[in-house]
Amino acid sequence: MTTTIGATVMQTPTRDRLEVLVDVAISYETTGPDAGTITEIRPIEECDEPPEATLPEGSVLLPGLVDLHIHAPQWPQLGTGLDMPLEQWLFEYTFPLEARFTDLDFAAEVWTDMVTTLLAHGTTTAVYYVSQDLKATTLLAKTCVELGQRALVGRVAMDHPTGTPEWYRDSSARSGIAASRASIEAIRALACERVQPIVTPRFIPACSDELLQGLGDLAAETGVQVQTHCSESDWEHGYVLERHGMTDTESLSRFGLIKPGTVLAHAGHVSDSDLARIKSAGAGIAHCPLSNAYFGDAVFPLRRALDAGVAIGLGTDIAGGSEVSLLAQCAHAVTVSRMLEDGVDAAKSAGSRGTDKSRVDTIAAFWLATVGGASVADLPVGLIEVGRQFDAIAVCSPQPPSLLRRWDLDNDERWFEKIVRLARPGDITNVWVGGQALN
Ligand code: GUN
Ligand code: FE
Repeated sequence: MTTTIGATVMQTPTRDRLEVLVDVAISYETTGPDAGTITEIRPIEECDEPPEATLPEGSVLLPGLVDLHIHAPQWPQLGTGLDMPLEQWLFEYTFPLEARFTDLDFAAEVWTDMVTTLLAHGTTTAVYYVSQDLKATTLLAKTCVELGQRALVGRVAMDHPTGTPEWYRDSSARSGIAASRASIEAIRALACERVQPIVTPRFIPACSDELLQGLGDLAAETGVQVQTHCSESDWEHGYVLERHGMTDTESLSRFGLIKPGTVLAHAGHVSDSDLARIKSAGAGIAHCPLSNAYFGDAVFPLRRALDAGVAIGLGTDIAGGSEVSLLAQCAHAVTVSRMLEDGVDAAKSAGSRGTDKSRVDTIAAFWLATVGGASVADLPVGLIEVGRQFDAIAVCSPQPPSLLRRWDLDNDERWFEKIVRLARPGDITNVWVGGQALN
């Protein structure tokens, strides 16, 4: 069985091209193993019958947004606690909060609130760091199944005697590996194609070498993807150089943790040879522009990494980033790229202030939030295209106080840019994941 929806689509098949499909009929499977797969896209006027549903005049259909890096248990501290450097922030605020998620009533309340809110912001796919707790992790996966969000869900492994507090860690590498294995089995047992496990060593400073090796082996044995933090800040990058005598990328590779589908969060301090290694391994980077402004000590060299051919998407890094919306993160990605290009210290001469050829535009940023994220996470989403899943959001231009207004001077490019920069949840009227309408 298929169903058909009529809409005008705006999307970015490449990082320099906006595609506008005016009044097309999009058909997708609604049943069977291919449920959600787009089977045909053609002009409505060429169809024998009208679509089952048609978006109202003025609405635009966009691909659903992919959040490549979000810490679910940090949801209750969204918007607060960003006054410390990363290493202090973890111990003062974040580990105590994450440790609370052994309380499954608390977890259930947070997960429902968070997943509902993310969907309303158009986040149809999320790659989650959860907590060290196995049951809370499974519960988030179940919540995603029930509420319809596509997700990779990772139980956080961390055992290091100084990099973690004694009250929030795996008691040994062996128990961390066993719990990570149990988490994979529990999430697979939910038997929902849309919700899959991901092996999640927190980051090198929080993990013993034995744990890192065991998780690399576990990922290889089970065929599960990996996520971790990589060269995030001066402190973190320097710590790994000192402990392992090499960069995060080199060290994670040794443990089998950089492989196809690996999501490396931040990577602001990677070298050109790190980028080449990430690319050749088929791994990718979650660029978290707002979080990096607080913890990263530098702007991620996005253009350099894109030009090196590395797969890249966007992450909110909640709660290191205090902004839920991937569209807002698109604007942040553009903003920080401009600051990298121009430089930030007016006391320096204009010619020596910045890094040439660093800027990206709104089209490139939206491509990261859709196609880029989908390619890093290895998921068939990110574009309204035959063969991909119908993960989509509809945005319309309602009355004030919405900021979305299309004046007669707005051509398609300007209208798209306004949508990316100005759309808020109130403007997102519909959300579909795998063809399933979620509101
Ligand atoms: N590195 C290790 N843990 C974290 C975390 O929770 N957030 C961020 N931004 N970086 C980390
Ligand atoms: Fe993070």
